[in-house]
Amino acid sequence: MRVAALSPSGTQLAGLMMHEVPAHAQRVVELGAGTGVFTRALLASGIAADKLLVIELNAELHAYLHEQFPQVHVVCGNACELKAIATGNGFIATDLADAVISGLGLLSMPRSVQKSIAESVFSVLKPEGCFIQFTYGPKSPLPQDLLDELGLSVRRGGFTWRNVPPASVFVYTRTRSEAIHAVRS
Ligand SMILES: C[S@@+](CC[C@H](N)C(=O)[O-])C[C@H]1O[C@@H](n2cnc3c(N)ncnc32)[C@H](O)[C@@H]1O
Repeated sequence: MRVAALSPSGTQLAGLMMHEVPAHAQRVVELGAGTGVFTRALLASGIAADKLLVIELNAELHAYLHEQFPQVHVVCGNACELKAIATGNGFIATDLADAVISGLGLLSMPRSVQKSIAESVFSVLKPEGCFIQFTYGPKSPLPQDLLDELGLSVRRGGFTWRNVPPASVFVYTRTRSEAIHAVRS
């Protein structure tokens, strides 16, 4: 219940998530890594360990991840604090992130927490960066009114039955006008 999952994500879902990571992506953040299924897939897909920041709230899982991926910045912390964490440890000192990939149980979080996480995510992303999230529900786990409020667009990625439970991938980006505004300012 605390991790909002029956079991770790399967390889099929990990593949769908990796498919959404832009080919040019170098600097990536992972939220809610659990036992590291996506962490392992990100490294296997060519993301350098020192360009990957992983945030996991659960202390036991954090210790496990730290042991499994000693070269990766693995932080025990709250995704809501992503901006402060990424600024504090210098992860975004030279460049913002190309993608944020999330295994958080966003669907079961209150709107206020969803908003806080989405704001944190987009504060560390490049203007054209993307936020990749899976969900066990049929719809975007971030509601449309929140996307409108934050100036975000959503696109449905892949779906797999071969996961327990079956899961869909959603990809969030800034709307075009917001991205252009961010680049100009
Ligand atoms: C559904 S599990 C997904 C684990 C893994 N990514 C996977 O797909 O197998 C959600 C994970 O997010 C972590 N988590 C929940 N709330 C969090 C938060 N606010 N900040 C960081 N991690 C969080 C949980 O401890 C858990 O490991």
